[in-house]
Amino acid sequence: MPVPRSFIDDLIARLDIADVVSGYVRLTKRSGSNMLGLCPFHSEKTPSFNVNSEKQFYHCFGCGKGGGVINFIMEIENLPFLDAVEVLAKRAGVAVPESSGAIDELAGKRQRMLQLNRDAAIHFHDMLKSPIGQAAEDYLSRRGISRVVATKFGIGAAPDSWTLLLDAMTQKGYSRQELLEAGLVRTSKKDSGGSYDLFRNRVMFPVIDVRGGVIGFSGRVLGDGEPKYLNSPDTLVFNKSRNLFALNLAKKSKAGMIILVEGNIDVVAMHQAGFDCTVAALGTALTAEQARLMSRYTEKSVIAFDSDTAGKKAVLRAIPLLEKTGMSVKVVDMGASKDPDEFLKQRGADAFKILLERSENHISYRLLAIESGVDLSTDEGRLSYISSASTILSELESKAEREIYGTKVAKAAGVSPESIQAEVSKKVESRVSRQKKNFERKVTRPADSRQPSERAQRESNIISAIAEEGVVRCLVRDPTLMKIADELEFTQSEFTSGFLARVFEVIAGRISQSRDTREAFIMSEFDTTEASRLTVILEKPEDLPNSEKSMREYIGKIRAEKLKSVTPDQDILLEIMKKKFREMEDGN
Ligand code: GTP
Ligand code: MN
Repeated sequence: MPVPRSFIDDLIARLDIADVVSGYVRLTKRSGSNMLGLCPFHSEKTPSFNVNSEKQFYHCFGCGKGGGVINFIMEIENLPFLDAVEVLAKRAGVAVPESSGAIDELAGKRQRMLQLNRDAAIHFHDMLKSPIGQAAEDYLSRRGISRVVATKFGIGAAPDSWTLLLDAMTQKGYSRQELLEAGLVRTSKKDSGGSYDLFRNRVMFPVIDVRGGVIGFSGRVLGDGEPKYLNSPDTLVFNKSRNLFALNLAKKSKAGMIILVEGNIDVVAMHQAGFDCTVAALGTALTAEQARLMSRYTEKSVIAFDSDTAGKKAVLRAIPLLEKTGMSVKVVDMGASKDPDEFLKQRGADAFKILLERSENHISYRLLAIESGVDLSTDEGRLSYISSASTILSELESKAEREIYGTKVAKAAGVSPESIQAEVSKKVESRVSRQKKNFERKVTRPADSRQPSERAQRESNIISAIAEEGVVRCLVRDPTLMKIADELEFTQSEFTSGFLARVFEVIAGRISQSRDTREAFIMSEFDTTEASRLTVILEKPEDLPNSEKSMREYIGKIRAEKLKSVTPDQDILLEIMKKKFREMEDGN
């Protein structure tokens, strides 16, 4: 652990988890120190995400995720431990002590790359205002992008030059190697060693992540030319499939939705027209990670892709990805306009607002997609269309919706609406009965459902493990109970669960050093999966006034189980049988 434990303890003590979580989840006060909200880690409509401000931990009863404030940041920002500590330290206004670990070196490198990107963005922005960036400036004004919006996005210009950025950044103290690693500069293959700017003669859009770091760039050619867009390659700080253009702005929007468009220019035009909740992918098709990222900030997604065939195909690919996160999905049809930018120019913002209100629930989109994939003039085509279409309809919650779309499907397939309804009802019923069976299986096999799903976490002796959990829980509630363990000479080696043994070790270590043993502190020593598991264990009720008695009972139970387990196992039985055989043979 390169950062001293004492620093991390101090950091946890300074922060309020409710405060930190509130930055991501709207929490409402429930009772006492409990707060409730919609879980950011899985999709849900009724809140089951709990934050306990007294114990300083969170726990979702729906998906089982839980932990302390560091685990929360690791999980939600998808960051390694030290980066999460860094984020929280910044928030708490304290500096992480310097140390020399390899992880720190990486964190330092990232920090430096972000600084370089920021300096490069400032450079590009300065160029836009200088005579050398006139061409880019002209291009932006031709596209109707205002100065105000250009500044808001930090738009800049990469003039038509080979080494302008290289020279400017070298002068600022960055090495050629650093510029290469940040993807801002390339080395030419021909005359070895020669380096040149990657972005030339382009309008530059900095890509800024949700924490405000400039992580990369997207450069559009001025006018026609190939490639139209040039994006930063993936680097230590940039991952195209995990970020979205303009999410840093959209996340602050009050619109209550996120509109997903295809082009950077569309994003800028949309923001300029007042739709400040617009984002775009970064030059690739939408990924599941991006969909999840969006769902952290909204429950409603709206797709407004280009109207061409490629755009329509992209819509069909995006719908299931967005749906899977639990967001509602709507699709905007811009008719004859090729993209949002053109629509806004031709028809204006008010017309787009109307489009948004009218935008279709994507069902008809999916039905159309199925229809275009089959030949409705053949019997097989019609049967396959009816089957796929009724599966989609059976997933609709509302009966009215099922009927309305069912009638459309019936018409397309040339059958009666009743026969479609019958097909859909059959599918709904079979789904309901499947769900019921699953539920019953869970309830009737309680021993099974209390086992953590991950294989590695399965316990060899579930009864002992439950008692071991009790020991750990008692100690966290009341560290003075360690005296019982000492009195009974109970040690870590008696645990059957490797995980719980480690938890015990952490607690015992902290008690012996008189350090804080409250939930949040213990949890910070485990990774996010382990912390989730620990939360469940620590949240189970424990009769505190009688905890001394419980502690003795738990230890007793662990020892009783141990005794049971030394009864003859398979190998011993085999030995005995062999011996018996030998005796029989000898006797003959
Ligand atoms: P115009 O409306 O033509 O000015 O452009 P646009 O900003 O709307 O972009 P367009 O709809 O053509 O493309 C959508 C997105 O696809 C862009 O924002 C880029 O991220 C990506 N893209 C387009 N062309 C290229 C290309 O040549 N290379 C790469 N890597 N990405 C591209
Ligand atoms: Mn476009």
